[in-house]
Amino acid sequence: MRTHDDVDAFLTETLVGSDPAGEAALAAQHDAGLPAIEVAPVNAKFLHLLTRIAGARRVLEIGTLGGYSTIWFARAVGSDGQVVTIEAEPANAEIARANLVNAGVADRVDVRIGRGADVLPTLVDEEPFDLVFIDADKESNETYLDWAARLGRPGTVVVLDNVVRGGEVADADTPDSKVQGARRGILMLGSDPRFDATAVQTLDRKGWDGVAVAIVMDPVAGLGG
Ligand code: DHB
Ligand code: MG
Repeated sequence: MRTHDDVDAFLTETLVGSDPAGEAALAAQHDAGLPAIEVAPVNAKFLHLLTRIAGARRVLEIGTLGGYSTIWFARAVGSDGQVVTIEAEPANAEIARANLVNAGVADRVDVRIGRGADVLPTLVDEEPFDLVFIDADKESNETYLDWAARLGRPGTVVVLDNVVRGGEVADADTPDSKVQGARRGILMLGSDPRFDATAVQTLDRKGWDGVAVAIVMDPVAGLGG
C-alpha cells in the first residue's frame, strides 16, 4: 500500500530535483530550532511556477520563517524582480537573510522585520505587488488579505497558506484559533468583492492541508486584470 509520503518523495525527486541551496536553507533552519512548518518542496515549486505563470516581477510574502519559500519566489521573479518578505521574529529573519545570501538571491529580496500589521502600511507608496503569499499568524488572515488587495492591483494573484489544516477547516465550531483564522480567510475570499478565489487541498510530507488562490478584481470591470 503506497502512502502520500511515497508519492511526495517521487514527485519531489522527479519534479523538484536536486536543490543544494534549498536543502541547505532547510538544514540551517532546522539546526537553529525553527519549526518545520515551511512549505513542502513540491508546494514551493508550485508557488514558483505560479509566480512565473503570472509574469510577476514584484512578490510580497507575509511570513518569511527561514526563507525557504522566499528563495523559490526570488528565483521566479528573476534578477530584475523583487521580493519583499515580512518576518515578525528577528532571529528568523537573520537565518533567512543568510539562506538568501547562500542561495545567491539576496540582491533581489528585501527582508522587513516587524509584525505584518505594522510593516504592511509602510508599503503603500511602493509599486503594486503582482503576487502576494500569506503564510504568517493565521489569526490575522483577514488583515493580511485586506492588505493584499490594497497593495495589489486588478489581476494580482493572492495565495493563502494552510487553509485546510487536516480537515479541521470544515468544523465551524473548532476551538483552534488557527483553524478559525483559516475559516475567516476562506469566508472573506468568498464574500469580499475584491477577490475571486478557489482552494486546492494538498497532501504532502506535511500532511493534509491546502492553499487558497485568488485574483484581485477590477472594481469597475469586475474582472481580474
Ligand atoms: C503552521 C503554520 C504554517 O504556515 C504551516 O504551513 C503549517 C503549520 C502552524 O503554525 O501550525
Ligand atoms: Mg504555511
